[in-house]
Amino acid sequence: MTGMKEKKIRKIGVLTSGGDAPGMNAAIRAVVRTARYYDIDVVGIRKGYAGLIGGEIKEMYSKDVSNVMNLGGTILHTARCPEMMTEEGLDKAAAIYKILGLDALVVIGGDGSYRGLAELSKRGVNGIGIPATIDLDMCGTEYTIGFDTAVNTGMDALNKLRDTSNSHERCSVVEVMGRDAGYIAVWCGMCGGAEEVMFPEEKEVIDSSKVIQQILENRSIGKRHNLIVVAEGVGGTQKLAKEIQEVTGIQTRATILGHLQRGGSPTATDRMHASMMGYYAVKAIMEGKQNVVMAYNSGKYEVLDLLESMEMKKTLDQEIYDVIKVLAI
Ligand code: F6P
Repeated sequence: MTGMKEKKIRKIGVLTSGGDAPGMNAAIRAVVRTARYYDIDVVGIRKGYAGLIGGEIKEMYSKDVSNVMNLGGTILHTARCPEMMTEEGLDKAAAIYKILGLDALVVIGGDGSYRGLAELSKRGVNGIGIPATIDLDMCGTEYTIGFDTAVNTGMDALNKLRDTSNSHERCSVVEVMGRDAGYIAVWCGMCGGAEEVMFPEEKEVIDSSKVIQQILENRSIGKRHNLIVVAEGVGGTQKLAKEIQEVTGIQTRATILGHLQRGGSPTATDRMHASMMGYYAVKAIMEGKQNVVMAYNSGKYEVLDLLESMEMKKTLDQEIYDVIKVLAI
C-alpha cells in the first residue's frame, strides 16, 4: 500500500449477485473500508441487481462491516435477477446508477453477474467485477471466492461419511455442487480419498457400469467400503446408489450435500483472496480503470478487461482425476 491518494473518485456502489459464496462478506468489508480509507462514499445495494433496479440502497460506513469477515452468506443479500435479461431492466439499472451519481459499480459474483455487468457497461456503467462462486468455473482467474470453503465443507462431509460407511462396510455415493463444472467434485474426491469421481467434463465417460466394475474390483482386493463422488451436473445420484446395491449386493447410501456447501464461515484462503481483491478493486477504480475484473493468477492479483476476461477459456485439469485413480488402489 502506498498510502498516496490517487485519482479522485467520489462515490461507488457495491452489490453481491447470483449464488452466495463464503467470503463475499470479507470482499464487501474490503471494498467499503478501502473506499472509506480514501474518502470515497460507498453505497451498499441489497439483493444484487434486483436491489439496484428496485432502489434498495443504503450508505455504508466502516462500522457497517464490523464483525462480518467470519460470516458466510452475504450481508447485502443476493438474488438471481431475471429483469437483467431484458432491455427494460438493463436500462433501468443503468439509469439508477446515474441518478445515484456512482463512479463505479463493484459486483461480487459469478459469470452470470459478469454478463449483467457487461451489458450495463454498454449503457455507461463503469463495472468492476470480483469473482465469487463456489464452483471455480470463471474464466480469466485461477481462483474464485468461496471455492476453498465449499471444498472443505465437502471434504468434512466425506470424512464423516467415511466413518459410517467403513463401520458398516457400505458404499457411499455423495453428490457435491457444480452444475456445469467438476472442480468441487475432483477436489473433494482427491481430498476426501474417494474411489471414483463423476464430473461433467470427464474426457472418457464414467458411467454406472464403470463405477460398479470398480467397486467389484475393490472388493476383490479387500476394500471394505467405497466413496463415490458425483458432481451435481452429472446427477442421478439416488439412481446410481440403487443400481450399485442391486448389482453388487453391497449396501449403498446416497447423500446429496446441496446448499450445505454454499454456507459456513469462510476459510482463511477465502478471506485472504476476498480481502485482497476487494482492496485492489477500489484501487483500480481510483487509478481510472473502467470495466475491469479482479483475477488471481500464478500467485498474483491482476486487473483484467471485463469483456476480454469473459472471452477467455478455462478447463479443469483432468490430471487431478488421473492421480485420484492412482491413489485409490
Ligand atoms: O453457482 C453455484 C451453485 O451453487 C451451483 O453449484 C449450483 O448448481 C447452483 O449454484 C444452485 O443455484 P441456486 O442458488 O439457484 O439453487
